[in-house]
Amino acid sequence: ASDIRTDLTTVLVTEEQIHEKLAELGKQIDADYAGKELLLVGVLKGAVMVMADLSRHLSHNVEIDWMAVSSYGTSTKSSGVVQIRKDLDTDMAGRHVLIVEDIIDSGLTLSWLLDNFASRGAASIEVCALLRKPAAAKVEIDCKYVGFDIPNDFVVGYGLDYAERYRNLRDVAVLAPHVYTGE
Ligand code: PRP
Ligand code: MN
Ligand code: MG
Repeated sequence: ASDIRTDLTTVLVTEEQIHEKLAELGKQIDADYAGKELLLVGVLKGAVMVMADLSRHLSHNVEIDWMAVSSYGTSTKSSGVVQIRKDLDTDMAGRHVLIVEDIIDSGLTLSWLLDNFASRGAASIEVCALLRKPAAAKVEIDCKYVGFDIPNDFVVGYGLDYAERYRNLRDVAVLAPHVYTGE
């Protein structure tokens, strides 16, 4: 067990900033989907906090489903190989789908997901991501709703993990390199 504070260098996005931003995005999403039925698809496990908070900023009566995919495992680098651990329970044919993600890092996860979803016959598919790292992009993702563009550091908290830990931090913070280099 480690002391969570010495494992972090700087707080990048505070709890307050996150909630303000999600309220703003929620308003936009409500307006954009006025009169439409919306299916929110959360990408487990990282998107749990964003989904919980964003969905409660919507006045829309949405459906929520989850897809579990993983590409990072216990590494700080994406393996580039995305594995489905749990598929959707919902048939997205004819549905307006909004994918909810915590972060777009290399973009490989969302690029793979968007390809995977393309053949399922949705009426529309858009993406909402709380965080994005422009400097880390390996593929361009067309993301309609972005919370914050952040530098290319390994960040944890608010759903984001390193080796399954730190997801319960309330802020988004930079993980101190000693944690993953083992020094
Ligand atoms: C993380 C994060 C995104 C993805 C972004 O998920 O939650 O889903 O990586 O990285 P990319 O843009 O480089 O693909 P991870 O694979 O760690 O699984 P998790 O959500 O269960 O932590
Ligand atoms: Mn994830
Ligand atoms: Mg992860």
